[in-house]
Amino acid sequence: MNTKDFFDIKQKVIVILGATGILGSRYVDFLSSKGANIVISDLSFEKCESLALEVMKKYGVDPLPIKADITKEEDIINVFELTIKKYGKFDSLINNAQIKPEGFYAPFEKYSKDTLMKVLDGNLGAVIISCREACKYFLQFGSGSIINISSTYGNIGADQRIYDGVKNIYFPDERFSSPVSYGVTKAGILNLTRYLASYYREKNIRVNTLTPGGVFDNHDELFNQSYSSRTLLGRMAKADEYNAAILFLVSEASSYMTGANLIIDGGWTAI
Ligand SMILES: NC(=O)c1ccc[n+]([C@@H]2O[C@H](COP(=O)([O-])OP(=O)(O)OC[C@H]3O[C@@H](n4cnc5c(N)ncnc54)[C@H](O)[C@@H]3O)[C@@H](O)[C@H]2O)c1
Repeated sequence: MNTKDFFDIKQKVIVILGATGILGSRYVDFLSSKGANIVISDLSFEKCESLALEVMKKYGVDPLPIKADITKEEDIINVFELTIKKYGKFDSLINNAQIKPEGFYAPFEKYSKDTLMKVLDGNLGAVIISCREACKYFLQFGSGSIINISSTYGNIGADQRIYDGVKNIYFPDERFSSPVSYGVTKAGILNLTRYLASYYREKNIRVNTLTPGGVFDNHDELFNQSYSSRTLLGRMAKADEYNAAILFLVSEASSYMTGANLIIDGGWTAI
């Protein structure tokens, strides 16, 4: 029997874009606890640095904080250059950022082209560019893996009924809805993953999507109840409940998986 630990990620270098938010910071902590060195990249250097110091102290790892705005091509290129400068390699890229520019929660009839273009650019265009840049290195290394992050609403249509009665703090005179830009960009992520998996089929570059369901983050009780009743498990996710899936995707445990979509949504899309 092969007793190798397929989940071993000690010494792996993992680049996370959008690393200091609700889920990104959990991935940084969890993967660091398993001995990986994380490139912690986000808009605020202070947040990246403080997370880096925290995991260094807790786990004795050697993370790299980098400020980058993924909507700037030169910032993305710089992330990989600095990564190579420090470690000489990286094993995985996790495209975890999400863009919420002004007007993000506008009702459909009032959705401005400017807001739409910013979300298309940040949630999709920037992800394509970061995959392009990472893959140039992966081709040199002879291996690599990418994890793109979608969402339930990238897999199926938004259930706008669950927002009935939820206050719209951004547009107080309008009813709250899940924005068009979110669902279409998260749907695009699924096919980007499939495209790249096929494109790099024989290059030992694996590309997969993780689809998380909604995480409870002090949402109002009405929304929490409506959301929860849509899931088979009857609740929203806890922020730590995707950590093991991320470990699976960045490790050898998922060596035969590419072009796939790992859905973890409490059963929302099962019925
Ligand atoms: N939290 C959920 O309920 C949930 C559910 C399904 C999918 N997701 C997806 O998971 C991912 C993480 O979600 P989250 O809840 O942690 O989000 P979050 O908003 O807490 O974190 C997103 C991070 O992206 C960063 N970011 C925004 N614009 C950026 C830019 N231009 N350049 C670089 N970084 C930028 C933010 O600073 C933030 O740290 C997102 O892709 C999201 O769509 C989240």
